[in-house]
Amino acid sequence: MEERRVWDETQLRKYDVPLVYVPKYRYDDPKVQELISANKPVIITGSELVASALNWDVDYLKEHMNNSNCTVIFSKNHKFKYFDDKSVRPDVKAKFVPPTRKVGMKMAEFAKRLREWKKGDERLYLQQMLNNTVGPGIVHDFLRFHWDWINSLQKNMSWGPLTSNLLLIAMEGNVTPCHYDEQQNLFAQIRGFKRFIMFPPEQFECLYPYPVYHPHDRQSQVDFERPDYMKFPKFKGAVGHEAVIGPGDVLYIPIYWWHHVESLMRGGYTVSVNFWYKAGPTEKIEYPLKGYQKVAIMRNVEKMLLEALHDPQELGPLLRALVLGRYTE
Ligand code: OGA
Ligand code: ZN
Repeated sequence: MEERRVWDETQLRKYDVPLVYVPKYRYDDPKVQELISANKPVIITGSELVASALNWDVDYLKEHMNNSNCTVIFSKNHKFKYFDDKSVRPDVKAKFVPPTRKVGMKMAEFAKRLREWKKGDERLYLQQMLNNTVGPGIVHDFLRFHWDWINSLQKNMSWGPLTSNLLLIAMEGNVTPCHYDEQQNLFAQIRGFKRFIMFPPEQFECLYPYPVYHPHDRQSQVDFERPDYMKFPKFKGAVGHEAVIGPGDVLYIPIYWWHHVESLMRGGYTVSVNFWYKAGPTEKIEYPLKGYQKVAIMRNVEKMLLEALHDPQELGPLLRALVLGRYTE
């Protein structure tokens, strides 16, 4: 089949990171399940997972979203770095300057702002959970998703329950900086093209996540556009797995895999829906542990130490005292 290539290299942002391609297979190819069971990313074509939603644009959504309220994020630049200051210690929160702001608005208002947006304005990114407040038209499309396929995949992979579906509507050029999530993700593209640069959990050291108690927990501290190699020298060793997906494609983002996401420049706005699943129950533990299991352990150690010490300032000195000269070569 001829490749549908409706974007070109000039629409991709440039970074100082070597890239390899994420493989692409039809949904019924045995390679798909093979890669997913191995926690490796794969682009899945032909699944028709969200075929019933391929007509979702802001005008259609405006008509059918039943006036429900949506979360829209505003940013002064093209970067939308996630933060969570709810579960964060008050002293840390007091010093934190949020990089973006969240505003609730109706889809009609969002559509109007997209239409009237001009250069220099704050950029917008709608990120709204699909829940029971969306109108019957959307529910109708949602119920016609290819659930048979995705449910059997979930079963074969022994994943836990589906926790949520996030609807994402991004302006062209918007970037979600590099982070990892603690869930399995099937990311379905509906409109426009998105590019993912992903890194396996084993590259934890190259990506320098913020401390767990920080509002930017799970985010990389490295600014891909201006990497500070003095502070983050191991970023030089990072190798990204690149995937560009378009309407009808589904990308598997394995749990704990890092991902940087961009809506292509000059491609119009993008619409996507993701499917987040809890990890399955831990099977028999096999050694050596996998990269993501070690990341989970590190998170727990960090949390335990913080609880014991109380003051995040004391974490670094204690860890250094523990390691230096004893666990260093
Ligand atoms: C995700 C995610 C960001 C984006 O689905 O986990 O990080 O911009 N998405 O699509
Ligand atoms: Zn994510």
